[in-house]
Amino acid sequence: MPAKGVLILAVTADVVIAGGGVIGTAIAWRAAMSGLDVVVVDPDIGDGASLVAAGMLAPVSESLFGEGELLALNLLALRRFPEFAAELEKAAGDEIGLRTEGTLAVAYDAGDYAALLRLTSFRRSAGLEAEELDSRACRKLEPFLTPDVHGGVLFGGDWSVDNRRYAAALRKAMLAAGARTVRDRVTEVRPGVGVITASGASVRSDQVVVATGCWTGTIDGLPPQIRGAVRPVKGQLLRLRHPDRMPPVTTHTIRATVRGADIYLVPRADGEMIIGATQEERGHDQTVTAGAVHDMLHDAMSVLPVTSELILAETCAGLRPGTPDNGPIVGRADGLLIATGHYRNGILMSAATADAVLAYLSGERPEAEWNAFTPGRLA
Ligand code: GLY
Repeated sequence: MPAKGVLILAVTADVVIAGGGVIGTAIAWRAAMSGLDVVVVDPDIGDGASLVAAGMLAPVSESLFGEGELLALNLLALRRFPEFAAELEKAAGDEIGLRTEGTLAVAYDAGDYAALLRLTSFRRSAGLEAEELDSRACRKLEPFLTPDVHGGVLFGGDWSVDNRRYAAALRKAMLAAGARTVRDRVTEVRPGVGVITASGASVRSDQVVVATGCWTGTIDGLPPQIRGAVRPVKGQLLRLRHPDRMPPVTTHTIRATVRGADIYLVPRADGEMIIGATQEERGHDQTVTAGAVHDMLHDAMSVLPVTSELILAETCAGLRPGTPDNGPIVGRADGLLIATGHYRNGILMSAATADAVLAYLSGERPEAEWNAFTPGRLA
């Protein structure tokens, strides 16, 4: 029962979307553009985990052994991104900082280099572009890298976007297209009926889309196999910026393995640099720890010593929605439309996920790349 004195809203819509991160707002924008009456329910629309991300659109350098189907889906997502981004920039009237320079993966010592080359041969076998570079060639591309770097590989197919600009543009575009918002937390979903919120409000709709990210496990009314499949995976990040008049210290996204530990440094057009990220199983804890800040700065400075000259502007922690096979969960389940569990690739997959959900809403099937990622695989 809602607390005494709480105002009970009873909104109706064609589609209600539980969750207003980049997945929920991308779906809302496209659904509103297609003429549907859309309501998004979230206490922090566009201000949750989507803000704590590096914005890597990195199907190549995020791909791991044994994840071929996920790689195919991420490649589909990347192919879709430029047109979606151009339309979004036009709709929102703001730039979102898309960068296409690629990722330079570097290895600190011979052991790190051997591991990088093993991963590179797997990525090549999947048809991906990868150029092996010795230490000198790495420093020709990125002159501030330490001369101690053992060698590297340039993955030209990886891009990045400014995730904060992107989230803000999606929110603006979705509102301009007519989507409405309820700032409240969804506690329960009811297939074919709607959602209930923490304050006892209800939004009624035949079509309920669940885009609740790392909070999916807390929502009543979800099939238990979906509720149980999504867990929060904490990622701590640093945001640095260049002092006035200091030119950008890198052009590419740099990924490094420093004595076995992975780190990435993602430059932004406006002079910011994101350094990340930890990967921690700590439930919904979002604290920033001294050890993580120390380790990330230490590893970043090991490969790019000039990092020490940058200003530490912000430390933050967010929660990725992890799943048992690291893939998203997108499709129909028990009368609900599920779009969650995007784990390390939420920004990358947001445009393609919006397409897939729009296909389901119109009674069609999305592209074949989604077949391995339906809720049915969890049964
Ligand atoms: N995609 C990068 C991360 O999740 O840390």
